[in-house]
Amino acid sequence: MSAPERLDMVDLTVTHGAVRAVDGVSLTVHPGEALVLLGESGSGKSTLARTVLGLPGPTARVSGGVRLSGTDLRALDERALSDVRGRRIGYVPQDPDAGLDPLRRIGAQLVEVLLRHRVAASRRAAREAVPALLDAAGLTDPDRAARSHPHELSGGQRQRAVIALALACAPGLLIADEPTTALDALVRSRVLDLLTAGGSSLLVVTHDIGVARRIGHRVAVMRAGRIVETGPADRVLTTPRHAHSAALVAAQPGVPR
Ligand SMILES: Nc1ncnc2c1ncn2[C@@H]1O[C@H](COP(=O)(O)OP(=O)(O)OP(=O)(O)O)[C@@H](O)[C@H]1O
Ligand SMILES: [Mg+2]
Repeated sequence: MSAPERLDMVDLTVTHGAVRAVDGVSLTVHPGEALVLLGESGSGKSTLARTVLGLPGPTARVSGGVRLSGTDLRALDERALSDVRGRRIGYVPQDPDAGLDPLRRIGAQLVEVLLRHRVAASRRAAREAVPALLDAAGLTDPDRAARSHPHELSGGQRQRAVIALALACAPGLLIADEPTTALDALVRSRVLDLLTAGGSSLLVVTHDIGVARRIGHRVAVMRAGRIVETGPADRVLTTPRHAHSAALVAAQPGVPR
């Protein structure tokens, strides 16, 4: 794997017309840590994640800074940014189907990513790498998955295929937006293991306290575009200091560790 990256968001603000989706967020993901961004629907979590990737949407106005281990991502042009995406930052979008091309087989999509970022030296080497990547993402029949178009896979299998794509180039930072929401408990647990197995830095967006408990080193609680509380996962989830964090935790009682 590439060395774990450090991500700094500095006073980041994203507006869509009059809507301040992200409002002055400063947050750091330290190398090798899993930071869980927790917040209710509409609090700005996905907007923050997409803005880090340089994909805030055509109507967005952005101010503030995004640094990846010293690289000022906001100063990069689209071409340089697209070299960072996939190579240094893996991204699992909230809608897994948004991460897959519906018209192309999963294997071909992986080959393309490996060649694009020159992780594989040749098309042949890329093809040979595909089954191991799908196997590592927990697909039980990697050869079949490689031959499949996205619609031929189940929702859970598509989620794993998206994770395989995000991890293909062994990025030092993985950003996963609600990676387990559509999954049953067993598959959820395995997908969380997958995300943490690589040792990369992790920014995981969720509204699920169980996910935060399971993988979070630190938790940041977001509300209405702002971070209202940040701290070690254990502390925030057991003795939240902000009333809104307390309300979020209380709303999901009895989630097993
Ligand atoms: N392209 C856009 N145009 C206008 N408003 C937007 C756009 N994208 C997001 N918003 C608004 O920004 C706010 C935050 O949205 P966002 O999708 O970031 O929330 P979220 O925390 O990811 O919610 P969820 O948990 O439901 O996924 C919402 O009020 C949303 O309506
Ligand atoms: Mg979202």
